[in-house]
Amino acid sequence: MTPPPEIRNICCIGAGYVGGPTMAVIADRCPQIQINVVDLNESRIAAWNEKDLSKLPVYEPGLDEVVARARGRNLYFSTEVNAAISTADMIFISVNTPTKTKGLGSGQASDLRWVEACARQVALHAQGHTIVVEKSTLPVRTAETIQAILQAAQQPSTNKPQRSFVVLSNPEFLAEGTAISDLESPDRVLIGGEDDEAINALASIYNQWVPTKKILRTNLWSSELSKLTANAFLAQRISSINSIAAICEVTGGDVREVSMAIGADSRIGKKFLNSGPGFGGSCFKKDILNLVYLCKHFGLPEVADYWQNVVTLNTWQQTRIAQLIVKRLFGTVTGKRLAIFGFAFKADTNDTREAPAINIALELLEEGAQLAIYDPQVKSNQIEIDLQLPATSCPDIKAGQTRAALNGEGTWWISNSVEEAATGSDAILILTEWDAFKNLNWNNIAPKMRQPAWVFDTRSVVNPQEVRSTGLKLWRVGDGAS
Ligand code: UDX
Ligand code: UDX
Repeated sequence: MTPPPEIRNICCIGAGYVGGPTMAVIADRCPQIQINVVDLNESRIAAWNEKDLSKLPVYEPGLDEVVARARGRNLYFSTEVNAAISTADMIFISVNTPTKTKGLGSGQASDLRWVEACARQVALHAQGHTIVVEKSTLPVRTAETIQAILQAAQQPSTNKPQRSFVVLSNPEFLAEGTAISDLESPDRVLIGGEDDEAINALASIYNQWVPTKKILRTNLWSSELSKLTANAFLAQRISSINSIAAICEVTGGDVREVSMAIGADSRIGKKFLNSGPGFGGSCFKKDILNLVYLCKHFGLPEVADYWQNVVTLNTWQQTRIAQLIVKRLFGTVTGKRLAIFGFAFKADTNDTREAPAINIALELLEEGAQLAIYDPQVKSNQIEIDLQLPATSCPDIKAGQTRAALNGEGTWWISNSVEEAATGSDAILILTEWDAFKNLNWNNIAPKMRQPAWVFDTRSVVNPQEVRSTGLKLWRVGDGAS
């Protein structure tokens, strides 16, 4: 088995939040490698090929510039999956692996049907020697499944020239919103595998811009498990600080001060200690549930319970916030207009997967609230999918109280600006920490609201004095004084 001396052609299956930006940066840094990013979803590929770079399917600061440099030069997006597989020396599998919603392991295990389908497609169409790289986050030992499928394809047959495969794990640690800088200067690149030549081939690609000491090598299983563990640890910090926020609120402490004080301990470190409405995003919950499933499967129920509680606390934080909003608005939000500032799961992304805004909005809709939602990047049709409720048009504000149709039906609509959303509202809920919400003109906003009016700042972005000086009431997460 002679591995390719160098990688000249890469195929990436899955043009999502991970595959698209990752391949764009590799193409940018390695102009000598031809990269084909393929996806079954035609409209997604069309969006990646959009001339107008503001219409790329993924919003990431800096992504447009990287795509502009590489696209059409050595970076191509298409739906021709089989053709791209057949010309590739290296294939990244970057398809989604959501939590199973039915059957064995439902609610916890990852649904690997697309990963398996990709492996079978690779087995059918690959030529010569192919390095297959797991990019998707996968349960530990998934590489075994991929290997088994590829090994079967490796058997000599009369009508096909001999092929060979190596499977590597190369989990992606990029965070959305900072994907390009995370890819351009990663804390580390992790490569798991058993075949030194294949590992060297992949390492040499990253080595074009990542220092050798940051390229870590482990066995396959450690690599797969490291990704789950990194996400579990990060999520655990958020649940930990959110649990302390709740204690601050009842004792008079301030969670920002506690975070600052504990973060100054170099053993703890100051990152990932921002209390908020709970973590969202495609990975944290899914990966922890995956870990929980693995623990149960391997007979470790105490370990499973330990990690399960990180998710339980996260959901509780969202319910807790929705309930305290209702309580402060005289125990009812039926027919009340509430402005939601920010729907994305974090700032600088248009992604709403597992966004805390979804659960909080659903609880308030259940209570009959009328939600005016403003987010700088999230589109109305995405919110419709997330809330499983069509948008209405904005009710006539001049109709006053009667507008509310106090029949208990929750409704929502999209607003085009913070001012529009705030007009006539009883409360503003800041659910995403967009920069635009950090310097709002509260003197301008307050008179537009129906008094007495509230600001619920779940992200600690407002200046409390500025808000309070306008006569607005303010609740901040983890603030025992509000
Ligand atoms: C996904 C997983 O959620 C994450 O765990 C993993 O680490 C990387 O892949 P992401 O890129 O954010 O992350 O997912 P998504 O934006 O849904 O993109 C996956 C893409 O794969 C979609 O565009 C989908 O159309 C495509 N796909 C899926 C295929 O092309 N073929 C398939 O068989 C299945
Ligand atoms: C995460 C991991 O950071 C990344 O390494 C992995 O590859 C994918 O999952 P991502 O989900 O994109 O990345 O964003 P991240 O910045 O980790 O934030 C996740 C959630 O935690 C967001 O909802 C964010 O608002 C929340 N968060 C983060 C907090 O509530 N407090 C913090 O201090 C940090």
